[in-house]
Amino acid sequence: MASTIYIDEDVGRDDDSATGTETAPYKSLLHAMIKHASDGPTYQTRKSETGPVDGNGDPASRLEWKPASKSALKKVSNLYEQHKKKQAKASELAIRENAEAAKRQQTLEDAKKVVLEEDKSLPAPVSIRLDDADSTKIKLGSADSPGTRVQVSGYVHHLRSQKDVIFITLKDGYGHMQVVLSGNLIKTYAAMTLTLETSMTIRGELKALPPKAHAPLDRELHADFYTVIGAAIGDKEAITNKVQQDGDAQTLLDNRHLVLRGDTASAVMIVRDAVDFAFRQTFRELRMRFVTPPAMVQTQVEGGATLFEFDYYGEKAYLTQSSQLYLETCLASLGDVYTISPSFRAEKSLTRRHLSEYTHIEGELNFITFDGLLTHLEHVICRVIELTLADPIIAAHIKSLNPDFKPPSRPFKRMRYTDAIDWLVEHSIPNEDGEPHKFGDDIAEAAERKMTDMLNVPIFLTHFPVEIKAFYMPKDAADPRVTESVDMLMPGVGEIVGGSMRIYDYDELLAGYKREGIDPKPYYWYTDQRRYGATPHGGYGLGLERFLAWMCGRWTVRECALYPRFAYRCTP
Ligand code: 4AD
Repeated sequence: MASTIYIDEDVGRDDDSATGTETAPYKSLLHAMIKHASDGPTYQTRKSETGPVDGNGDPASRLEWKPASKSALKKVSNLYEQHKKKQAKASELAIRENAEAAKRQQTLEDAKKVVLEEDKSLPAPVSIRLDDADSTKIKLGSADSPGTRVQVSGYVHHLRSQKDVIFITLKDGYGHMQVVLSGNLIKTYAAMTLTLETSMTIRGELKALPPKAHAPLDRELHADFYTVIGAAIGDKEAITNKVQQDGDAQTLLDNRHLVLRGDTASAVMIVRDAVDFAFRQTFRELRMRFVTPPAMVQTQVEGGATLFEFDYYGEKAYLTQSSQLYLETCLASLGDVYTISPSFRAEKSLTRRHLSEYTHIEGELNFITFDGLLTHLEHVICRVIELTLADPIIAAHIKSLNPDFKPPSRPFKRMRYTDAIDWLVEHSIPNEDGEPHKFGDDIAEAAERKMTDMLNVPIFLTHFPVEIKAFYMPKDAADPRVTESVDMLMPGVGEIVGGSMRIYDYDELLAGYKREGIDPKPYYWYTDQRRYGATPHGGYGLGLERFLAWMCGRWTVRECALYPRFAYRCTP
């Protein structure tokens, strides 16, 4: 029997709380039709709150139900027909999608039954790394001669699936290799669900690339057998969803372990390894000895403001800011020395060139003059660059990271602090108070960077005023207002080296402690060097991450540390 359905446009509801009765009316005619049109009801409507009042001003007429007007019924019937069509389309699509999902599920179930068997009649494979191109053990196959059968292990770096073939770019930390899977090899469950970063071992024939094709080392591996070692998680957790090239900085830092899987971050780390090694080789060529000073100390080197303090069995101790003082104690018995060790600075300011923990390359030279120290530094920097670029793989990484990189030409520009002050004044670059620079100002990071970028060459900035430098720096005999000190500045980064001669006169050192308000007691071992055969000596410290930021053209030193540590970040 045809029923009556009620619609109140003011207080009705188009949700499950309404049923279309007088006491629980709907809000819209369309909703009422969607719910009841198939029963062929009649529709009664009203506007109980905003509807018309009668001639006496009595609102009672608002409460009267009236049949829905013909025009309203016609208009809403059209809308209702459209709605029905949309519904039909959606359910058709859902059926199709469900069928496809079921089919894919079935295909995957079938794929689980496909088991790859290695063809034992094939030659035993030669194990190689992905960059191995040793022609004495590997021959590339061509149209008329077979290539070497090899075995490689690595991670899926890129993946391209076509109808009959899957192309994989495998990486292993040494190089990349294009791998082609086809035939039965792509019918397994593992192949059908292959994800980036999955680790696998693959065997097959190495062949020369077809003409016009591009792949690393112009070759590709035609697989005949593989095993998946560890499938990488996919879907929402896939690496490409976790880290994206231009992703949010905090997310990238939280996922640094995954960022390191990428080409850019790993290239910087590969260059870092080469640069570290080049420093060691250069120092060895100079007959400097490697030492490992302690990281836990009870003295400061570069001012109390940046010390990390900790409790050492009830005593106050610090993480070292610099190994310099310890290196100085080695000169008498070991000759010139160096270290490559972590230094720590509690730097609360978040700049792009400050880390809380960085790798400090420090050298200390005996029986040297200030000029000799600068010449040595220039040699070390140039030799390290020369050795680094001599490796074609490293040179290629640097080229891709920093296409404009050019080794600096010698001699480096030398500029006294007073000349830098004049230069900054001439170029209207103000000091931190917004005033013209004057003698005695610490040249701030921004001004230093501006000057270095404008001069666009490496600079030895020398002879800083006594007041802005450390307690151990000797005064220049020709101008006692300044010290025999040097900062080496590089375009794009600013200061990468800080060095100086060291006071070797006992009384002068005590005066240095006093000037800086340092209690000489904990420094007794350092002071003793001035009592047991003092010598003129000097040295320097270079921040490896800053050197790399310059060489690899990175925006910040954070990209040049494996797991950067800076204010408030100690994870992962
Ligand atoms: O100029 P600094 O403070 O000099 C010294 O520590 C001397 N005692 C070194 C020595 O003569 N043996 O630091 C030396 C270099 C800087 O030029 C910079 O490259 C790097 O260490 N450095 C930092 N790198 C990253 N983050 C920081 N917070 C750094 N502080 C210094």
